[in-house]
Amino acid sequence: MNTIEAIQTRRAVKHFDANHTITQDEIDKIFSLAILSPTAFNIQHWRFVLVEDKALREKIKEKAWGQEQVTDASLLLILCADTKAWEKQPQRYWGNAPKEVQEFMLPAIDGYYRGKEQVQRDEAFRSCGIVAQTIMLTAKEMGYDSCPMDGFDFEAVAKLIDLPKDHVISMFITIGKAVKEASPRAGQLPLEELVIKDSFS
Ligand SMILES: Cc1cc2nc3c(=O)[nH]c(=O)nc-3n(C[C@H](O)[C@H](O)[C@H](O)COP(=O)(O)O)c2cc1C
Repeated sequence: MNTIEAIQTRRAVKHFDANHTITQDEIDKIFSLAILSPTAFNIQHWRFVLVEDKALREKIKEKAWGQEQVTDASLLLILCADTKAWEKQPQRYWGNAPKEVQEFMLPAIDGYYRGKEQVQRDEAFRSCGIVAQTIMLTAKEMGYDSCPMDGFDFEAVAKLIDLPKDHVISMFITIGKAVKEASPRAGQLPLEELVIKDSFS
């Protein structure tokens, strides 16, 4: 499947085969591709919580309006980000770069994020949005379907997974074998409304 086909056929699927098991190799493949997604300054601040414990999945489903995907999908991923990754040994993010690049990047990272809580949070959601689409397209190519989700109580789920104070939850992604196709597309807005030439004024 090429990228355009994956984009065209990815849909938010809500009904998965609860008996299908995703293999560790498949999970490794999804994440080894996910981490090739871009992040500003290469800070790679996504954190992928894979919920394997069935009892925990049930508890999470209760906090997600009982949505079946949460327990029926082969994989429940809680896509999180560390909003303070920029200050946690940032030299790791440029470890293979030439020395002069490292010397430029480290102060640049600090200057961009330090004291700017909103920027740190915005960046987390930007990065999670990009990696989410990478994961969903990869899943599609591998013969799986997925559903991005934010229909859940963020605070309650944060408690259930002991989310560190300096992390945020961006969304869930459920991945599995579809047992029911998505409904026909609800309709896309016209490009004339969405594409702005040069300026809004
Ligand atoms: C951030 C986000 C959160 C969503 N949350 C839910 C959800 O909680 N439950 C659900 O069934 N679908 C959820 N969806 C799926 C959307 O309803 C779906 O993507 C949209 O209707 C477009 O359909 P398509 O993805 O099949 O093209 C979510 C999608 C996004 C991007």
